[in-house]
Amino acid sequence: MKIDVVTLFPGMVDVPLSDSIVGRARKDKLLKLNFENPRDFTLDKHKTVDNKMYGGGTGMLMMAEPVFKALEKVKKKDSFVVLLSPRGAVFNQKTALSLAKKKHLIFICGHYEGIDDRIGNYADLELSIGDYVLTGGEPAAVAVIDSVTRLLPGVLKKADATVNESFSFNLLEAPQYTRPEVWKDLKVPKVLLSGNHKLIKEWKKDSALEITKKIRPDLLKEDK
Ligand code: ADE
Repeated sequence: MKIDVVTLFPGMVDVPLSDSIVGRARKDKLLKLNFENPRDFTLDKHKTVDNKMYGGGTGMLMMAEPVFKALEKVKKKDSFVVLLSPRGAVFNQKTALSLAKKKHLIFICGHYEGIDDRIGNYADLELSIGDYVLTGGEPAAVAVIDSVTRLLPGVLKKADATVNESFSFNLLEAPQYTRPEVWKDLKVPKVLLSGNHKLIKEWKKDSALEITKKIRPDLLKEDK
């Protein structure tokens, strides 16, 4: 998959996505990440990308034109453009699965107080990663790109590893354990040591349901 990121701070996205599974996917060319900086599309000598807000308000707003020009450079017929903003629809696993099917994604990251609202006309989807405000769309782009990349064919070794996990079935994952069997007087549940796969499966399902009811009952109600 090809992903372009329009950002004033490419390092905020490039560096966190250089290690571990996504880093390997990039090395293996399963994911090609490219960055376009709106600053490179300015015409004045100060390379101005932001300005004061009409109607007043504190802070600076990114101007539409440099962002638009960066977008124009990379946008193709089959591109899907995602604008990251705290005002967007809240990102979840269902959206990750649908984005993973696209051929080409473009993420637009706002910074400072955001981007001139008119840039929204060029986005197919406005996404937020949660009800809190970040310094910019970049950390949100990292989260979305990470979760999409691990769904791409060939990125994770086990095909079913991506399916059996939290949120895929509206359930949080059952607790998991590794060696040793007893750690600081805390024991691994006996059933997991039994070798009885049917019992283990039932225990995992029951525990997942119990934990979801306790921590995220909203997941059981909503059609995610
Ligand atoms: N930009 C600032 N806050 C954000 C958030 N929560 N999600 C996406 N983009 C953002």
